[in-house]
Amino acid sequence: MDHKIAVISGDGIGPEIVTEACKVLDKVAEVYGHSFTYTPVLMGGASIDACGVPLTDEAVETTKQADAVLMGSIGGNTATSPWYQLPPDRRPEAGLLKLRKALNLFANVRPAYLYKELQEACPLKKEIIGEGFDMVIMRELTGGLYFGARETKEENGVLKAVDTLTYDENEIRRIAVRGFDIAMKRRKKVTSVDKANVLDSSRLWRKVVEDVAKDYPEVELEHMLVDNCAMQLVKDPAQFDVILTENMFGDILSDEASMVTGSIGMLSSASLNDTKFGLYEPSHGSAPDIAGQGIANPIATILSAAMMLRYSFDLDKEADAVETAVEQVLAEGYRTGDIYSEGCTKVGTVKMGDLIAEHIK
Ligand code: IPM
Ligand code: MG
Repeated sequence: MDHKIAVISGDGIGPEIVTEACKVLDKVAEVYGHSFTYTPVLMGGASIDACGVPLTDEAVETTKQADAVLMGSIGGNTATSPWYQLPPDRRPEAGLLKLRKALNLFANVRPAYLYKELQEACPLKKEIIGEGFDMVIMRELTGGLYFGARETKEENGVLKAVDTLTYDENEIRRIAVRGFDIAMKRRKKVTSVDKANVLDSSRLWRKVVEDVAKDYPEVELEHMLVDNCAMQLVKDPAQFDVILTENMFGDILSDEASMVTGSIGMLSSASLNDTKFGLYEPSHGSAPDIAGQGIANPIATILSAAMMLRYSFDLDKEADAVETAVEQVLAEGYRTGDIYSEGCTKVGTVKMGDLIAEHIK
């Protein structure tokens, strides 16, 4: 079967890592008899340079015609790149937010787990790591502070800025349902994270999540305040199975969770709507400091492509094959610089992609 994939290479290391993910997908196509058609789409700084805006309406249309979107990363160095001299709604990140909203990608799934082979890279102490940890962050992606009304104005000679955190019960319900659904396929525990001791939006969040929980009697639900969650993630990460949270908290906690695994270059993510459609991208950013050097770790993007096979195309066997190939290559001791430890073989971006493609069986 032919699957149409819109490909957003983006900025920084984006083009390098996406090339490797497509290489692996091509190998999957060859071994399993599928065909993947790629349509390039400009977004972020690349689109600003070519079209003057971070995402054109035509580009949005192209993604809508596809079955799924594979993305690298967008954005540049915020201190030095001319993109950040532009008004906020013309900067690279605005393209990504526009796309999330246009495609209604409200459910952002970000797995964070400790690879057995990469325990050395984990910054936590051995006694905290214990038997390892494996969690998924289910982040609401099209509401909250990111999309509420905002403005900066001057009042009586004083500059004033306001951002608005809004959620309605339907937005909370649909992401909560996703969180519980995924918990049912895992260890059946949901930690709903909020700031209900201060925020109204969090009190509504808690109420709706409790309501949704009634439909999932097998799932254990706990509530946790976001500040405590930030602490618990470094104190005892193994306690978490599914973390369910709103947009901004999820942005922050997912970076923290990926850092405690010690291998942010390994973690994939999926942004889903209520159909099979999804946008798949690594959890890490565009790493402009190492762009073009051929040293970026392509594994997070390759694993994001595996999520695409599983969630958008229902190709579970093929997704397993990609994940197994990654594990085998790691087990054989190959590492990019970010996850390198003594005694391993250091390889660059292209070689890592070649090795993983070779291991697709
Ligand atoms: C992420 C990123 C984005 C976000 C930025 C690039 C707008 O940090 O996907 O986590 O804040 O959502
Ligand atoms: Mg982020």
